[in-house]
Amino acid sequence: MKITGAEFVKSAFNESHWTTDGLPEIAFLGRSNVGKSSLINSLLQRKGLARTSNTPGRTQSINFFLINETFYFVDLPGYGYAKVSKTMRADWGKMAEEYLSKRESLRLFIQLVDARHKPTELDKQLNEWLVFHQKNHLIVATKADKLSNNKLNKSLQEIEQALPESKIIAYSATTGKGRDALWREIENSL
Ligand code: GTP
Ligand code: MG
Repeated sequence: MKITGAEFVKSAFNESHWTTDGLPEIAFLGRSNVGKSSLINSLLQRKGLARTSNTPGRTQSINFFLINETFYFVDLPGYGYAKVSKTMRADWGKMAEEYLSKRESLRLFIQLVDARHKPTELDKQLNEWLVFHQKNHLIVATKADKLSNNKLNKSLQEIEQALPESKIIAYSATTGKGRDALWREIENSL
């Protein structure tokens, strides 16, 4: 897809802040620090559009990015960051689940997992939720550049075993590996 425009529109902390124009949305989900914001920047080839950081918990609101004036990328806060308070964790669950379950304009749920590790319990829970509710979704195994091809293939097999119902694409925001394949999926969903 040719990107003619990509702009940050707003941060939402509750339902009243969600966009209201009804344009289709693609959501990016996954644990804290897995690389959601980096993936958005990589797909759009715009450095720094979505804020990234080494510190987990960087993205704390639901952030809407308008692409080509026709659809949104939605960057969600990461889950599973042990150091946030219980209240914050509960808020994440409430905020994200409300959005994920209620939002009718969602066309595709992109769940990120780290290509180097087996999916965590929370990864599996989110995946089960997506499968159970028959959400159009796929898995992006990110940071693939950190593994040799051999190790990557092994790891992808393990991820497939843990999340057997879902299609998996290996990705690297550093090299752009997987970008074309992922864009095809996004275009198909729109
Ligand atoms: P939160 O907003 O805290 O939930 O994190 P996030 O999922 O948005 O992660 P973010 O994009 O901020 O990336 C976290 C760290 O991983 C940053 O230091 C990124 O540079 C790094 N990173 C993300 N994707 C890749 C990748 O594909 N390859 C490599 N080598 N590093 C990556
Ligand atoms: Mg982020």
